[in-house]
Amino acid sequence: MLKYISNSPEETRFLGKSIGERLQGGEIILLHGDLGAGKTLLAKGIAEGLGIEGSTTVVSPSFTLVNIYKARLDIVHVDLYRLNSDEIYDLGLEDYMDLEHIMVVEWAEKAPLFFSNQTLDITIEYTGDASRAIVLESQKPSLIHRLQESLKMTLRDKK
Ligand SMILES: Nc1ncnc2c1ncn2[C@@H]1O[C@H](COP(=O)(O)OP(=O)(O)OP(=O)(O)O)[C@@H](O)[C@H]1O
Ligand SMILES: [Mg+2]
Repeated sequence: MLKYISNSPEETRFLGKSIGERLQGGEIILLHGDLGAGKTLLAKGIAEGLGIEGSTTVVSPSFTLVNIYKARLDIVHVDLYRLNSDEIYDLGLEDYMDLEHIMVVEWAEKAPLFFSNQTLDITIEYTGDASRAIVLESQKPSLIHRLQESLKMTLRDKK
């Protein structure tokens, strides 16, 4: 488990970017946290880290539910908030669970069994108006280790 404290939207985004830079393909990332915690912002950062330019390309997927972005690895950003589990199973998301894609999912709790093959869980907890505790967990020690080393360096570089 890795835990970071973010004190601004920019820091959360930067953490996402650093994570995105370290992904190798095939990762399924579940973002947990209340409404407005910062899941979409973190997803934008991850997309940036994978090579999508700027903030306008990756918008909140609230309207279309599934957005696919071209980058170093294609990013599939999914927001399941408005769907029930049957509708989620009908989306055909399994087609994107391969080494060419990174899947980033908000509200995966709506169909936990469907996403039980996740490689990384990120939980964002509201700790103040502009501060968040961000916890990274994975069943794959190698992934956590890789992120830990690089995040340590990037966060230190930033200071
Ligand atoms: N440290 C922080 N990290 C992330 N977001 C922050 C932080 N401080 C303030 N915010 C604000 O919190 C909001 C996070 O919005 P965002 O859409 O990313 O949340 P979300 O978790 O995706 O919500 P939803 O469940 O509705 O999709 C933004 O308005 C952002 O500016
Ligand atoms: Mg969101």
